[in-house]
Formats: sequence, structure tokens, C-alpha cells
Amino acid sequence: APTAQSLPPGLRYETVEPNLDDAVRVPADYASNVVIRWGDPMFPDAPEFDFEHQTAAAQARQFGYNNDFCGILPIDGPGRRYVMFSNHEYTLEPLMFRGYDEENPTEEQIRIGMAAHGGGIVEVTRELRTGELHHDRAGRLNRRITADTEMVLDGPAAGSENLRTTADPSGRRVLGMIGNCAGGTTPWGTFLSGEENFDGYFASGPVTDPRQERYGLEEGPSERRWERVDPRWDLGREPNEANRFGYIVEIDPHDPGSTPVKHTALGRFKHEGATVTLTEDGRPVVYMGDDERFDYVYKFVSDKRMRRGSSREAREHNATLLASGTLYVATFTGNSPAPEITGDGALPRDGRFDGAGEWKPLTSATTSYVDGMSVADVLVFTRLAADRVGATKMDRPEDVEPSPRTGKVYIACTNNSDRGKAGEAGADEANPRVDNQHGHVIELTEDSDDPAATRFGWNVLLVCGDPEDPSTWFGGYDKSQVSPITSPDNIAFDAHGNLWLSTDSTQALEINDGLYGVVLEGPQRGSTRLFASVPVGSECCGPVVTETFVLISVQHPGDADDASPEAPASHWPDGGAAQPRPAVVAIRHLDDGRPAKIGL
Ligand code: FEO
Ligand code: CA
Ligand code: CA
Ligand code: CA
Repeated sequence: APTAQSLPPGLRYETVEPNLDDAVRVPADYASNVVIRWGDPMFPDAPEFDFEHQTAAAQARQFGYNNDFCGILPIDGPGRRYVMFSNHEYTLEPLMFRGYDEENPTEEQIRIGMAAHGGGIVEVTRELRTGELHHDRAGRLNRRITADTEMVLDGPAAGSENLRTTADPSGRRVLGMIGNCAGGTTPWGTFLSGEENFDGYFASGPVTDPRQERYGLEEGPSERRWERVDPRWDLGREPNEANRFGYIVEIDPHDPGSTPVKHTALGRFKHEGATVTLTEDGRPVVYMGDDERFDYVYKFVSDKRMRRGSSREAREHNATLLASGTLYVATFTGNSPAPEITGDGALPRDGRFDGAGEWKPLTSATTSYVDGMSVADVLVFTRLAADRVGATKMDRPEDVEPSPRTGKVYIACTNNSDRGKAGEAGADEANPRVDNQHGHVIELTEDSDDPAATRFGWNVLLVCGDPEDPSTWFGGYDKSQVSPITSPDNIAFDAHGNLWLSTDSTQALEINDGLYGVVLEGPQRGSTRLFASVPVGSECCGPVVTETFVLISVQHPGDADDASPEAPASHWPDGGAAQPRPAVVAIRHLDDGRPAKIGL
């Protein structure tokens, strides 16, 4: 095995053994604590969590359910206070309520579910002596965002015909965000949040509009029956309401009274997340994935330059950066004649899955590049625009994130067991495995290292799975030395430029999900090193890796077939007979009991 000193700085920890424990496991000399969990009061007057007597009013003042993305920014001051943002992607009513009747939820259960969606902003302090992170329920910046919080739409499609409803004839004001999965932290100090699986929230009669079908909208009641308490969730009554979801939402955490903004310029699809880098002249470039089987990778290049500093003028200017620019979709071309992974795992003739690619423009703020579609059409029905320009069908692109150190962009293709099935696309060099159950990671290099470039090179860094499976590939590194990994979902980088991947696998390798450090440079490139594993039934998301702490989001602990409050599959984090509660966890390194740097 590699010695600690042969590993890059930041990755010098003893790997965690893959396991099926109902616990967060971290390396020797590391410790973890819960920062905040579902139901924790977020305001001085918020009620304590009471699983047996939950109410919608309480939930709206408490941390929501199924925290996914996690972002954190230091607050000006002594350097141990932060503002943290979490997405609350979706609810699991059968685990939240005793005797939940999926076909006939009570009105209060429906309203609790609505209040448990959205996001949360909370102030967090780091105790210098122990290294633990805790939330401060009296934090001035604390805020809950729910499925009913007022938001605005901006960008070229705002106000367009397809966005107007009975309640909002302006097509510019919308209530709530839903399905918020991953996101990003901008260089100008805001958080981005991706609305992903919004389709399941809408009831509908027969869906005959192919534009709606392309987004998965289906006939029948919605999964959670929200249409019973608010008719806007019924497409029969409000055919355009669904067009107002599926965006990147920007939230200013420094002003709890600010109005979140849905940016139409970044397109509408099942947004996993959005991560930002800057061009040399200061224009934001946003990388994004559409997490659906055979959907696409996108980027947005702003027309405007970011202004430095936190003056009011700078903040007002930076609030307009994502309102106007050009939206692109990616095409990947391989350079090998036999790209598919074969039964014995052989690589293509040139030894690498790699090639070239092009960012195809879909629309600028004023000009559509797609025949027959207006600018607003492209931005509201982005998937159809991308279909028309021949974008490359990917294996569920989740996080797409540039390395702050090298500018290389990493794409987590989480899995796609439909690849190669009858009637579906077969393998290609960028998606080289049919029945891709464990996913892969692509490394993309923009031409001239310019994030605004329209051409790029790429190679596959990882083909995930059990290293003993011949179809796997760990950057060419010795497979006996790596941690098994399946279904990469979220991406982070540490201060040293190492890649970190968190996984969402439904236990596809019969191990719990976790957070892995990945070597990018040197002879161990492609080595995956399990750093933390999460409890039974949960996925690991939201990683943030700093020099002093790591944050992970433990989403849906105890999610298992037939799990219920009578028979919980997990008791994490409270233990004993407690019900499982999604939570944000902080991990710290201890040297002789004192906080030490991560991975050193
Ligand atoms: Fe909500 Fe794409 O994971
Ligand atoms: Ca090749
Ligand atoms: Ca995800
Ligand atoms: Ca996922």
C-alpha cells in the first residue's frame, strides 16, 4: 500500500473500510459531529422537534428534510463563524409519519412536506478547542426557504408567455423551489441551488404536449398530492406552473430578507447543480449537468464581468451576472475505433477513453441558435433545444465542477443501467460501458485553459465499481490499492487541488455510500481513497473540504424497502430507538486530541 508520505498532501489519512454500519465512519484520528439535523429549531422561538406531533408551522421554523447540497462561507469577523446553506431536496413521508397513507395524506402532512422542502441558511460556529461545528439557532442570518417562499424569475425568458399563470400574469414571480439537489458557491458570495426532479410534484391529465413529456411530466396525481391543497400543482388547472421550476436559483445568504432568483438564462432542465469559475477577464462561467439518463452537460458564459469587493454597488452589479450570457451544450467525440468496454475490460486500441469535444451554443441573451425556437423557448424547453443540436447523451451527469487549481472540469456520470438496452443509445467513448451500473468520471480540458472556449479535450478518469470487476478503470493506477466506489454524484476540491467525490448508489456494491479523496496528479493518479462512510440507507452529498473541517450531508438515512417509523432501518444519528434524521455532519482531524489539518 502507498505510504502516507507518498500520498499527495490532503489525502494522507488511513482509508475507511467499506461497511454497512448504521454510523458515520471516519479515519483513525478523525472525529465527527452533527452540525444540524432534520427538525432542529433554527430560530430562538422555533419549537423543539417532536416526531410524534410534527406540524407545518413548526417545520417551517426548523431544519428541513433530506439536506443535499451544502455550501459554507466565512462571515466577516474573527474567522470562526460561518454562514451555511443546505438544500432540502425532497421528503420521505413514509419515514416522517406513522401510518402514512400515500393515496390519502392528511392536509397537515401535505403542508409539513411543503415546509420541509426548499433550503435553509444557518449560522455555524467552529469551536477552536475541539474543532466541532455547531449551528447557532439565534444566528442573525438564519432563514428557511420552503415550497412557498416568494422568488423572482430573471433573464431573457422571464415574463414570457410560457411562464404566465393565473396567480402571476407577469410571468416573473413564483412561489418556492423544489427538488433542489446540488448547487454551488459563487466567487461573489452567494449560493446557487439546482431544481432537479420537479416533475413528480405535478398532477396532470393525459400529457400530450411532447415538450412536457420530455421533462417526465406524466398523467395522474402527483406523488405527494400537493394539488389537493393548492391547485397550482395541477397542470390541468395551471398548465404553465411546471415551466416555472427546473432552474438554477441564486440566494444571497447575507440578507435574510433577499428574494431568491431563478435564472432563466441558465436554462431549464433537471439541474443537478451549478459551479462557477471566472474567465481571465472576470466573466463567470457556470458548469451544469442534467441528471437524467441520456441527458446533457451544459455551460453558461456570462456577458458581464464580476466586480470585486462587498460594496453595495459591487453586490448589485454581481446580482446581474447570471441574467445575461450564452448557454452551451456539450458534444463529445471519441478518437478510438472500438470504444466500448468489452467483457474482459479491454481499453480501446489507443489505451484511453478520450477525445475532443465542442460546446454548441443554444442561445445568447438576444439570439437563438436553434432553428424554430425563440430565445425564451430555448431557455424554458432547453432539453428540446439540446436535442436539436445533437448534444451527446450522457450517463446521468450530476456535478460538473472545475478544479480551482487547474481549471480542468470533472463530470460525475453517476450511472445508467439503460445504456445499450434495446432502443437506447449504445456505448461510446465518453460513456464507454453498457449497463453502466456504477458510473464514471470524465476530465475535461478547455482549449487554451479558457473556460469560455468552445472546444475541449477530455478523457475518462474513472470507470467506477468493484476494482476486481474488469470493466473498471482507476486512471491506470494499481486496482489492488484503491477503495471500491460506485455512483459518483457530488464533487469538491480541497486547498491542495485534490478531487473529492461523494456517492449515491442505493448500495449497488453492497457497501454504504461515502466520501472519497481522489489523487489527480502523479503516479497514483486515479487512486480512490474512502474518507468517510454514511449510515444505512443514506447517500453522501454536499461535500465541502477545507483545511480544518469537512462537511458532508447525510441524506435519507434509513431509506429502505418497507422501512417505516414502526420498523426503522436506521436509528442514526440519535441512536437507541430513535427515528432516522437527515443531517449535516462536520468531520475534523485530531492530533493528540487537538484540531489538526485535514489529510496531513
Ligand atoms: Fe438529486 Fe442528481 O441527484
Ligand atoms: Ca481513445
Ligand atoms: Ca445529487
Ligand atoms: Ca444522485
